[in-house]
Amino acid sequence: MPQRVQRALLLSAFAVHAVSASPSPVLAVPSQAWTSLNASVSGRLHIAAPAGLPCFTSYDNAWGLEASTPNAEQCQTVEAGLASSIDIIQTFGSYHNPTFSTCMARGDRCTLSASGPKGIVNSTCFQGTVPDYYVDAREVQDMQMSLEFAQKYMLPVTIKNTGHDYKGRSAGVNTFAIWTHNIAPEPEIDENFTPEGCPGVVGPAVAGSCPTVGPSGGWVAGGGHGIFAPVYGLGVDNAMQIKVVLPNGTFVTANRCQNQDLFFALRGGGGGTFGVVTETTAALHKDQEITYVFLQMSIPEVPRTIDEIFVTNAEKWADEGWGGLYAVSGNVTNSTARFLGFNTKLSVEEARASLKPVTDYLESFPSSKGTLIRQFKTLPSQWAAQNDPVLLSFLLPEAGVSLTRSSRLVPRSNFQGDEARKQLVDFLMSSNFRWSVVLGAPTNYSLPESDKPGGPGEASVTPACVSSALQILEPHSQRCSLALHYCAVLGSCRSSCHQPRSAQQQFSTISTQMDPLRAMTPDGGAYQNEADVYEPDPIGSFWGARTYARLLNIKKQLEPDNLLSCWNCVGWNPEDERHGCYLKVRGVGP
Ligand SMILES: Cc1cc2nc3c(=O)[nH]c(=O)nc-3n(C[C@H](O)[C@H](O)[C@H](O)COP(=O)(O)OP(=O)(O)OC[C@H]3O[C@@H](n4cnc5c(N)ncnc54)[C@H](O)[C@@H]3O)c2cc1C
Ligand SMILES: *[C@@H]1O[C@H](CO)[C@@H](O)[C@H](O)[C@H]1NC(C)=O
Ligand SMILES: *[C@@H]1O[C@H](CO)[C@@H](O)[C@H](O)[C@H]1NC(C)=O
Ligand SMILES: *[C@@H]1O[C@H](CO)[C@@H](O)[C@H](O)[C@H]1NC(C)=O
Ligand SMILES: *[C@@H]1O[C@H](CO)[C@@H](O)[C@H](O)[C@H]1NC(C)=O
Ligand SMILES: *[C@@H]1O[C@H](CO)[C@@H](O)[C@H](O)[C@H]1NC(C)=O
Ligand SMILES: *[C@@H]1O[C@H](CO)[C@@H](O)[C@H](O)[C@H]1NC(C)=O
Repeated sequence: MPQRVQRALLLSAFAVHAVSASPSPVLAVPSQAWTSLNASVSGRLHIAAPAGLPCFTSYDNAWGLEASTPNAEQCQTVEAGLASSIDIIQTFGSYHNPTFSTCMARGDRCTLSASGPKGIVNSTCFQGTVPDYYVDAREVQDMQMSLEFAQKYMLPVTIKNTGHDYKGRSAGVNTFAIWTHNIAPEPEIDENFTPEGCPGVVGPAVAGSCPTVGPSGGWVAGGGHGIFAPVYGLGVDNAMQIKVVLPNGTFVTANRCQNQDLFFALRGGGGGTFGVVTETTAALHKDQEITYVFLQMSIPEVPRTIDEIFVTNAEKWADEGWGGLYAVSGNVTNSTARFLGFNTKLSVEEARASLKPVTDYLESFPSSKGTLIRQFKTLPSQWAAQNDPVLLSFLLPEAGVSLTRSSRLVPRSNFQGDEARKQLVDFLMSSNFRWSVVLGAPTNYSLPESDKPGGPGEASVTPACVSSALQILEPHSQRCSLALHYCAVLGSCRSSCHQPRSAQQQFSTISTQMDPLRAMTPDGGAYQNEADVYEPDPIGSFWGARTYARLLNIKKQLEPDNLLSCWNCVGWNPEDERHGCYLKVRGVGP
């Protein structure tokens, strides 16, 4: 508290500059109430600050604008961790996509750029969308106390786990946050798992949570894909039991035998909405050897032929159970084609045959000699596949980089017939020759009877994710780092990103460029965890009307006040003050 006294004394010097939105609801809570909440959560209540604070000379948060004493050593530590996933995950005020911790609508920020100047900056660190308070929850009781407190004082609640979200859903202006990252029990393996209330064993299972990825958080809540999803199903398909603290503090266990409505909502309804998940039990699959392919070459011509090869073979590759991705990036004179595939069904020889149309084409260029990367091999285990250096080289550089994307789940019918395929190729060719497909849809996985519509294990992901859809296409996926303090224009990109100047324009461009594909795929959808922030039809794309109606009904019964909410989440209100830092794009936003 001494720091707060110092800041209060300096308030008068800075107050003239303070332009503040509505006062934070946390200010209306008596300080004694915070003290007793803190006691009830074993001292785990904290005032939240953006990670960059030690690098700034003043600080603007819910309490106003005040001088702040920078700390060179801490600032250096923050800067060293800017692009490190582990550091981001372990710091409450840090986010993988830093844009979403800033106030884009006002241009207020406290983020630093990996590419910008280093050291202390003589300017203001703004709270942005970083919540005001958080509880570093370690036990179920911490979440119960926090949620009961939020209900009593009508505080908007944000749930944060790893802070990976691409849409800012683990941040929220002037909210009270529950941080679940430090609930990471050692995983327990049960060869004969029986869900609570179920008559018998369902098979081998693993409970607990992994320290870096949050299998219990937004991943499974949104659907959850991975390199084995084409054959083993999505995260939601593999969840056997989920424990959750409901908004009113009640702790319940949901599975296919009890609390089925909740089990439905927690598997596809999106995180941050229905309660705080404390534990997920997932099906365990036998380890095995994995067939691996990596192909890469730059193509010295317009990439229409490779686009055609990718589109023509897409359905076959999906049936063959390929996981991974393929992509074309580049420009009209020089583009690069990549295929990174993991397969549990095909042998290396079968994989060569499967990819022959690609290798034949790439080898047809005299320039392919020496420049074509062509790896076909067997990996010893699932672990080796998940830790493949090529896969990691695509994922790790995303840490600390603000990425905005637009994506679409494209039904099989769009890959069938010459005319449909031509339309798809034309669309890909219109995308500045930059697009990628994530092979993560459960294309060769059969839903068990229990999980089909109407069954006790139905999940709430879009039907496009379950039955018809083939791929996640992500044309125009852009990698834009917001060089916040060092760049005059909000939303400007790294030099490698040749996209429009402002963030608003970027969001708008990326969103509207997807419209032709949306029009071509009326039965398609979008994966909410990797979707366009300004998806024009979130209900239709993420859930479909029927599923959404059921989800909304569940949400209203659990929590009519909508204190647990987030951007594009079930029951969300775009006018909610917690969303006040989003931009207005395509008519949506503050
Ligand atoms: C580098 C990178 C790689 C990715 N790779 C994949 C991938 O391979 N497959 C894939 O499917 N997705 C992937 N994603 C997307 C990922 O699924 C989403 O970012 C997801 O939201 C992450 O969830 P989180 O809990 O880890 O993150 P957070 O940002 O902490 O939370 C995301 C959402 O979940 C809610 N939430 C978190 N924890 C809980 C909880 N315990 N109870 C209730 N709600 C909770 C939050 O409120 C928020 O709404 C990737 C993202 C990044 C940045
Ligand atoms: C909560 O209590 C802990 C331990 O006493 C203390 O370190 C922390 O500062 C308190 N939090 C707040 C917000 O006062
Ligand atoms: C920091 O900025 C303030 C206001 O912009 C200015 O008055 C002050 O002299 C600056 N301090 C330093 C050390 O540059
Ligand atoms: C295309 O990309 C290559 C390599 O990245 C670059 O050298 C070239 O200038 C680009 N051409 C155009 C027209 O942008
Ligand atoms: C095309 O781009 C790649 C990657 O940027 C580069 O390695 C290659 O030399 C380029 N080829 C031509 C012909 O410019
Ligand atoms: C999976 O693929 C095989 C062919 O490799 C096919 O026979 C089978 O029907 C597919 N299963 C599903 C559920 O798609
Ligand atoms: C909490 O909410 C659940 C679900 O709506 C309800 O069943 C339960 O009775 C509520 N508990 C309390 C104590 O109100």
